[in-house]
Amino acid sequence: MSTDTVSSTDAEARARAAGVPVIDFDPECDPRFKDDPLGTILAGQQVGDIFYSTAARGFWVITRHELFREISQATDRYSNRETFTFYRDPPDVFQMPANLDPPDHTKVRRLLMPLLSPAAVKRLESRARASVARIADEVAERGSCDFMADVALRIPAEVFLEHMGLPLSRADEIIATRLLPGKLNASNDPGGVQLKAAVAAVRAMFEEVLAERRRQPADDIPTYLLSQELDGRPLTDQEILQLCHTLLGTSLGTTASTMAFLFKRLAEDPALRHSATSTPEMVGGLVDEALRNFPAIPLLARTVRADVDFHGIPWKEGDRLLLLLAAANADQDAFPSPEQFDPQRTPNRHVAFGLGPHRCAGAHLAGMELRVLVEEWHRRIPDYHLGDLSDLTHEVSVAVRMTTLPLVIDSPAPSFS
Ligand code: HEM
Repeated sequence: MSTDTVSSTDAEARARAAGVPVIDFDPECDPRFKDDPLGTILAGQQVGDIFYSTAARGFWVITRHELFREISQATDRYSNRETFTFYRDPPDVFQMPANLDPPDHTKVRRLLMPLLSPAAVKRLESRARASVARIADEVAERGSCDFMADVALRIPAEVFLEHMGLPLSRADEIIATRLLPGKLNASNDPGGVQLKAAVAAVRAMFEEVLAERRRQPADDIPTYLLSQELDGRPLTDQEILQLCHTLLGTSLGTTASTMAFLFKRLAEDPALRHSATSTPEMVGGLVDEALRNFPAIPLLARTVRADVDFHGIPWKEGDRLLLLLAAANADQDAFPSPEQFDPQRTPNRHVAFGLGPHRCAGAHLAGMELRVLVEEWHRRIPDYHLGDLSDLTHEVSVAVRMTTLPLVIDSPAPSFS
């Protein structure tokens, strides 16, 4: 059915009748978003556990960890067809498996998972280590960097290229789908012209490697997908290309964003940096706390599949939901003193990767890249501070990202200088 079957005024009337707060909550368009995206989203916590926003097409907003869990797990009741598009515009891209519902979702997800299993990720770890080591050495030599462009986007791009069976020399083409000269995405690219060209170039790259792997199989994503079946028939080229785009689209900006948020925090806090980067156990806790505090995907959309009573509120088929993932991660019932950044927080049941059947398929990969970055970087560059942040702002597509993060290196580790 059309997502517009339920009018926002009808939903608003139901909200008022149920005693649910109704406000114009529109973080994406809030002028404060560019400076403080997560704070703008977290403001929703003050409104209530559930409220209705009249912004855009109208949507119910959910702020609590427990409710986030309930909705994320009930894929029979809440559709993912609009997830990753945010609340403002209806989707113009369809991602497999992110926008699929069961049973199709289950089939595609099962097909993808061997590529992202712990064993598959282990095989990519040496690539990640070598990339971080080389990049950190270059930065140490130079004495400064734009961490976002020079490090955070480059590491997941290089790991992705290795996984795709493509040479690292193509990293700039991959990164161009995220980084436009000077700034990220829409702000300096009217009509998205440069972005479209970058995406077309990457598509050509994928077509090239697919044709090559048909002739000569290797141990990589295209070779694996060429061997897979869906509903008893081989995947079409179109499906394979779409899955390659999904793997790129979901892995690059999200991981880079988390890396940048974490390194900004570490650059600001030498005591934390020294205590939390020293042992592998500490690094694991640091990465989890970074994911909790700075969830790169802070909002998730769902659509109600059939009329349902949700804790006394009558939701109707087609109602839109906005799950404030960032607020679930800052829910004091789930995380004592949620405002504190505590790498030793135990347990840390953050939902930065989502929950339930759509939980991030790349969680192991992202976790490995973050861990390896912290370990290898700090062996080489223990001390650094923030540079001039006057150009720093935040943008949102699926992930919330910094446009730039200037870092100045204080001194490389003696053995690496
Ligand atoms: C720190 C980095 C990352 C974060 C914070 C993140 C976050 C998320 C979240 C919140 C979802 C759930 C969407 C929903 O419930 O609708 C998701 C889904 C997904 N992620 Fe990630 N992600 C990250 C890295 C990655 C990486 C490295 C990959 C590797 C390819 C990846 C692949 C996917 C895929 C394929 C889905 C769709 C899963 C499904 O619908 O079944 N992600 N991610």
